[in-house]
Amino acid sequence: MLETHGLTKAFGALAAVDQIDLEVPRGQLTSIIGPNGAGKSTLFNLISGQLQPDQGEIRFEGEPITGRPPYELLKKGIARSFQITNLFGGLTVAENLRLAAQAKTPRRWFLTSLDRLEKPLKIAAELLDRFELAHLAAEEARHLSHGDQRRLEIAVCMASRPKLLMLDEPTQGMAREETKKTDELIRKLVGAVTVLLIEHDIELVMSISDKVVVMHQGRKIAEGVPETVRRNPEVQDAYLGRMSDDA
Ligand SMILES: Nc1ncnc2c1ncn2[C@@H]1O[C@H](COP(=O)(O)OP(=O)(O)OP(=O)(O)O)[C@@H](O)[C@H]1O
Ligand SMILES: [Mg+2]
Repeated sequence: MLETHGLTKAFGALAAVDQIDLEVPRGQLTSIIGPNGAGKSTLFNLISGQLQPDQGEIRFEGEPITGRPPYELLKKGIARSFQITNLFGGLTVAENLRLAAQAKTPRRWFLTSLDRLEKPLKIAAELLDRFELAHLAAEEARHLSHGDQRRLEIAVCMASRPKLLMLDEPTQGMAREETKKTDELIRKLVGAVTVLLIEHDIELVMSISDKVVVMHQGRKIAEGVPETVRRNPEVQDAYLGRMSDDA
């Protein structure tokens, strides 16, 4: 569904993303892991159009999309969440979802039919259920717990009915149990939507991913099914070994 070839982005002398070839298969969950500063978020920023690459190419469903702006990519079906929560805090949970669902509807108001107005409400109601947020529908988003806000953020991404959902550490700052619950929720979305996930909890990544890509200092050092990646010595040195040293 998504491919990058030789994707490169430098900040001054630092190659944050260095010649990355990535393949994201349709209908699967692909995870990107790697130590802090590995270049994961920068890679996301390149794919979703927040940053322009210095070199390389990005293709979505076979079509070149390199350097296209985020709103255009959203229309093509690429939605992403940010590492930092990005909600309308003064609006209710239901309003956040309805707005997100409406954003994709063409703004030809002279053609507005009842159906066009009702559809976003229906999508919002479905997402409230699916993300276990129905009891919070009338709460202002800023009053939600951190974990509920992060789940709402994923729901907001889903409201645009994307083909590719990109999530940058959606469980950051969550307790382990809540992380597990959220990752299981994400896993349930896979199939209907293709997911590209950055997640810090290695054990969870290994248990929910179809494919894992490991980055280190801007480079891709390994990829494959979880078991293969787990056994890769370079991965163990760069990441897993270091993680267990820290623990
Ligand atoms: N806008 C920027 N300007 C300069 N340097 C940047 C910028 N964005 C990222 N970097 C640097 O690029 C490198 C990769 O950063 P990036 O945020 O992509 O890493 P990451 O893998 O997402 O890390 P983390 O796990 O901490 O989120 C880091 O050294 C970072 O300091
Ligand atoms: Mg990051």
